[in-house]
Amino acid sequence: MDPVRNPYAPGAGQRPPELAGRDRQLSQFQVTLERVAAGRPDRSMVLSGLRGVGKTVLLNALRGLAVQRAWGTGKLEARPDQSLRLPLAQAVHAAVREVAHRHRDPERVDEVAGVLKAFALRTRPEERKGSRPALLMVGPDVPATRGRADSGDLELDLLELFTDVAELARDLGVGVAVFVDEMQDVSSGELGALCGACHEISQQGAPLVVVGAGLPHLPVALAASRSYAERLFRYVVVDRLPREMADRALLLPAGTEDVTYAPDALDELYTLTDGYPYFVQAYGKATWDSALTSPIQPSDVRQAAPEAEAELAVGFFGARYDRATPAERDYMRAMADLGVRHDDGAVTTAEIARALARRPQSLSPARDGLIKKGLVYSSERGAVAFTVPHFGKFLRSQR
Ligand SMILES: Nc1ncnc2c1ncn2[C@@H]1O[C@H](COP(=O)(O)OP(=O)(O)OP(=O)(O)O)[C@@H](O)[C@H]1O
Ligand SMILES: [Mg+2]
Repeated sequence: MDPVRNPYAPGAGQRPPELAGRDRQLSQFQVTLERVAAGRPDRSMVLSGLRGVGKTVLLNALRGLAVQRAWGTGKLEARPDQSLRLPLAQAVHAAVREVAHRHRDPERVDEVAGVLKAFALRTRPEERKGSRPALLMVGPDVPATRGRADSGDLELDLLELFTDVAELARDLGVGVAVFVDEMQDVSSGELGALCGACHEISQQGAPLVVVGAGLPHLPVALAASRSYAERLFRYVVVDRLPREMADRALLLPAGTEDVTYAPDALDELYTLTDGYPYFVQAYGKATWDSALTSPIQPSDVRQAAPEAEAELAVGFFGARYDRATPAERDYMRAMADLGVRHDDGAVTTAEIARALARRPQSLSPARDGLIKKGLVYSSERGAVAFTVPHFGKFLRSQR
C-alpha cells in the first residue's frame, strides 16, 4: 500500500487517526467542564496506565474539549527533581493568555498577570536555568504584585493564583484547565500542595480543574500525599483496547483510504498487539507498508511483523533500556526471567534478590533508579512490575 497514505501514527503523544475506545472518558469530561463552569462541584480526572496505552493523547483530547468550550488551558510535563512552580506558572500563563484577549477589563487582566508574575518570580534561581527569562515574564509592562501568590509556600501560592485566574475566566462564563502529564514525577510534597489547592478551589466552586496523567502508581502516590486525594479525582485507568476497539483503531483510518482487512488478518494483529495502542499503531503501520492489495491478509501481517518488531526494539523498548545503568539492566533482566513464571506480572523484590544472589537492601538503588526513570513501578508492597508492556518478552528475546 502507498506509504505516503499510511494513516497510522506510532510515536509518543502522536495523535492517532482514530482515538478508539475513549468515548466514555471524553463525554464524562464534557460533563465536568459544564458543571464546573456552572459553579457546581465535580471531580476532575486522573489518568493512569502503562507506557504507550494512550494517556498523553487522551490528555490532549481532553484539553481539546476544554479549548472547544472556550476555556483557558495550559499543559506541563513533570520531571523528576524539578519543582512544579515554574512549569505550572508557564501552563497557567498559557491559559491566562487564551482568556485575557477576550476579557473586557484590561485592568483586571493586568492584576491577574501581576499575581502570576509574582508566583513565577518565586522560582528558586537553580530552577530557572534552562528557561529563558522571558518565560518568567507575563507581559513586559506588568509589575509583579506584592503579597499575593509569592509567599514561597507552594500550596498557599497556588491557591491564591488559582483563585484569581479562575475568577478571570469566570467573568467570561468559562473556566481554566491545567493538564499535568507524567504526574508521577511530581514530588510527594508538591503533589500534596497541588491537591490541597485543588481541594480548596473546588470547595469555593471556582472554575478551575487540574487533570493529571501518569504511570499506574500515580493514584497511590496521590493518596500518599493527601488523604482526601482519593475523593478529589475521578481515577481512570487507561488500558489496552478490547478487541472491538483495536479493530476499530485499524479499520476506520484504513477505510478513509478505501483499504480494509480480512477478518483473520485482524485476528493475527490482535494476537501480536494485545490491544496495546502503541503496538496497534506500530503493527498497523508496518502491515500497511508491506501489503500490496486490499483486503489486507494474515500473510501481510506475518511478513510485516519483523519490521514492526525492529521499529519497536529501537523506538519503544531500546530507547528506554538505554537509559538504564548496568546494575539496573541486571535487575530488569532478572525481572524478565522471573516474569516467565508470573505471566510478566509483578515480581517480588525478594525473588529478584534471590535470583541475583544479593541482599534485598543492596538492590534498592537499582530499583529506585528504575522507578525514577519510569521503567518500573511498585505495583504492591515488596513487588515491582515493568511500566512498559511486553518489556519482559523483549528483554528475553535479546539474548
Ligand atoms: N485510543 C487510541 N486508539 C488508537 N491509538 C491510540 C489510542 N491511544 C493512543 N494511541 C496511539 O498509541 C501511541 C501511544 O500513545 P501515548 O503517547 O499517548 O501513550 P502514553 O500512555 O502517554 O505513553 P507514555 O507512558 O510512554 O507517555 C501513539 O502512537 C498513539 O497514536
Ligand atoms: Mg505519555
